[in-house]
Amino acid sequence: MALVPPKRRRGPGRGEEAGAGARGAAAPSPAALRFPEVTIYLAERHMGRTRRAFLTRLARAKGFRVDQSYSPEVTHVVMEGGSAAEASGWLDRVLGATGSLPRPLLLNISWFTESMGQGKPVPVEGRHRLGVPLPTRSQGDPSSLPAYACQRHTPLNHHNLCFTEALETLAEAAGFEDSQGRLLSFRRAASVLKALPGPITSQSQLHRLPHFGDHTSRIVQEVLEHGVSSEVEKVKQSERYQTMKPLILACQGIRNLAPDPGIQQLFTQIFGVGVKTADKWYREGLRTLDDLRGQTRKLSRQQEAGIRYFEDLCTPVWRHEADAIQKTVEAAVRQVLPDATMTLTGGFRRGKLRGHDVDFLITHPVEGQETGLLPKVMGHLESQGLVLYQHTQSNHYQDLKDLDHKASQNTTMDAYERCFSILCLPKPPASFHPETGEGPKEPSRDGKAVRVDLVVAPISQFAFALLGWTGSQHFERELRRFSRTEKRLLLNSHGLYNPEKRESLPAASEEEIFKHLGLEYIPPEQRNA
Ligand code: CTP
Ligand code: MN
Ligand code: MN
Repeated sequence: MALVPPKRRRGPGRGEEAGAGARGAAAPSPAALRFPEVTIYLAERHMGRTRRAFLTRLARAKGFRVDQSYSPEVTHVVMEGGSAAEASGWLDRVLGATGSLPRPLLLNISWFTESMGQGKPVPVEGRHRLGVPLPTRSQGDPSSLPAYACQRHTPLNHHNLCFTEALETLAEAAGFEDSQGRLLSFRRAASVLKALPGPITSQSQLHRLPHFGDHTSRIVQEVLEHGVSSEVEKVKQSERYQTMKPLILACQGIRNLAPDPGIQQLFTQIFGVGVKTADKWYREGLRTLDDLRGQTRKLSRQQEAGIRYFEDLCTPVWRHEADAIQKTVEAAVRQVLPDATMTLTGGFRRGKLRGHDVDFLITHPVEGQETGLLPKVMGHLESQGLVLYQHTQSNHYQDLKDLDHKASQNTTMDAYERCFSILCLPKPPASFHPETGEGPKEPSRDGKAVRVDLVVAPISQFAFALLGWTGSQHFERELRRFSRTEKRLLLNSHGLYNPEKRESLPAASEEEIFKHLGLEYIPPEQRNA
């Protein structure tokens, strides 16, 4: 019997299916069992024999015990489709026949898929129970999932991690090849899966989704069947990817991963080192931070700071640390300009629990009062010994008219007053009191270096700045693409501009901007596209 169902079989191509296809259906030796507390039984009803054989093979390959027939040892019964009543009735008959107790857990396929994705049994939650419908939102029907990420709700935690990781690896690799088209098509497909109300369990579900073509569908299919995609594995193992991965991480600003000792090309993870510099150093034979520290070349101030605080900057910033930084910076802002307000933006505003930096947006209720705020704020922080590095830029606009003009420009870089900095987060926080100013004046040796971005916007453009600095990057890109393509409007962090009428559309809140664009309002925690 063919182990791969005919409809899923593809001609010879890049998606090699060797390995799993050759593996027999026999149970693995007990030594290969990694989760002795879990015994799975896959109910054939609704699932079909062939798919059941796949899933069995997949789970066993990952060290799960899957029994072919029901016995009292079964702890997790997985059924695909079917109502709770049907499942319960079925179980009663089975238990009656085997005379066995205790009752196993009755689960839908989402528990199985998530467990395969994570390579371990995930804790059973309400939504995994049979008969509990998959979570739905206003757009619960996947067939109506809209094409732009800014039209969808994308939560931080989603149901398709094993697929999105594969697709994003290919997006990264495409980015390194400078293939923007491929990068975007993988990223868009991954982003669609993040917005789904439940896990993908069958390739047929992809036909109804936007941004799924032959290639992206094939990757998902491979992961569905084998747990991994051979193409993704090949890319990951390629020297090119392994060399460039840190570069790509840096390009995307993801610097919150601990350094992998197996990868020594960490240079672009250094604050202030771009792909070009890293590539140059790499070609000159430098490999480690120590190589860099031990040589005499002239480094920029930013690079020096990046190297000095490298370990801290590679450590994620946690939410409570972001809160502590907020208190400290806010106190300095108040000292300088009492009515100014500071808002957390970036990943933390989207609900992330960790990030590579902390992003803030500052404004003042009276337009113009905010100008020139940052040098004073930074001076204040500096006098407390909290600034390890800073690069402050004044705004790039002359007056209100010029500011309005910035809204009409189709650029991604905005012209706000800003500061890229590394601040010292005192440890423990109690050792410094932002209110009284008491505490260590010198950067404490046991303080943690944290990247902090500060942006200052006048109140008339605050909503646009807030929307633009909240991200995610992909969400922002999609918002601009939607505005341009569907509405013929230009959106940036300064405003929304109608080029035909040559006028700006003002907005006092993010909600108003979505309204101008004819979009349903998407709250920050649903912008994790
Ligand atoms: N941004 C921008 N211009 C820049 C840098 C960033 O407009 N020069 C915006 C981007 O839209 C991005 C947001 O600011 O979505 C936050 O950027 P960043 O801190 O790099 O990413 P986060 O989403 O906050 O992720 P992380 O948690 O890793 O910091
Ligand atoms: Mn950030
Ligand atoms: Mn940032």
